[in-house]
Amino acid sequence: MPKKAQKPRIKRETGILILLMGHTGAGKSSFINTASNRPNTALVNESITSESVEIMHFTIPNPANPSERPIIFVETPGFNHIKVNDFEILRHISEWMSRSCKLDVRVGGIIYFHPINQSRISETNWLLNYLSSPEPVQHLLLTTTKWDGRLTEYEHRERELKHKAWKGLLDRGARTSQFRNDLSPESAWKVINMLLDLEPLELRILKRDLDKICAGNGNTAHNTKPRKGLFSKLFRLFGLVRFSGLVFDSSSC
Ligand SMILES: *[C@@H]1O[C@H](CO)[C@@H](O)[C@H](O)[C@H]1NC(C)=O
Ligand SMILES: *[C@@H]1O[C@H](CO)[C@@H](O)[C@H](O)[C@H]1NC(C)=O
Repeated sequence: MPKKAQKPRIKRETGILILLMGHTGAGKSSFINTASNRPNTALVNESITSESVEIMHFTIPNPANPSERPIIFVETPGFNHIKVNDFEILRHISEWMSRSCKLDVRVGGIIYFHPINQSRISETNWLLNYLSSPEPVQHLLLTTTKWDGRLTEYEHRERELKHKAWKGLLDRGARTSQFRNDLSPESAWKVINMLLDLEPLELRILKRDLDKICAGNGNTAHNTKPRKGLFSKLFRLFGLVRFSGLVFDSSSC
């Protein structure tokens, strides 16, 4: 059953957090359903854009270790939100963490989903590039979805991602994985276990990075004034790479 995040006070003992990020339709809900082996754990919305900024979390026992602490999947809103821009979404995630979690909660990592059947490279890779501490990047798993059995056709796209868009992150210790979505829980746990093989990081480290992305120059995410430093950095970034369709609203964060 979906659980809304209403002051659950997730503590260190509660379980290991794994953040699921990516566009709406990238396969986050399917991944949760496959991992839990229950088709209706998370609501799959086929719609390509999303209006919801709700952050949901799902507590799922680890089948390999049922007596161990469960995994708490945090399903974050899709970055291709129609009303709320990417920074605003990061701020929501960070605020959810403040509300719901103790800062010493352990985080297995971030799974960033990329649908390989889309030729377009995600516009939000640049956000991930803003993770500045080494630990969050090392706990980042760039996971391709929607293979639909078309391995040979899509493998060149994956290679291209590894050599171009994702190269900077991979050089800094991020890893890639494939979720082939064969609907067996094992296929999802193979991905999850890549993160669980690492020593988890503390939530405070990840949150510090997210707040930095959102606010620039280490200010808190609650300040609503645009920040010059961050925006000039972004404009430089925009000069280097063209991102089609990115809505950029300086009033957020
Ligand atoms: C899916 O998302 C669309 C767009 O936000 C929304 O109108 C629709 O109600 C959602 N469907 C479900 C089943 O949540
Ligand atoms: C990608 O696959 C999904 C189903 O797995 C499908 O709904 C979507 O239309 C596909 N997109 C493209 C661009 O082929």
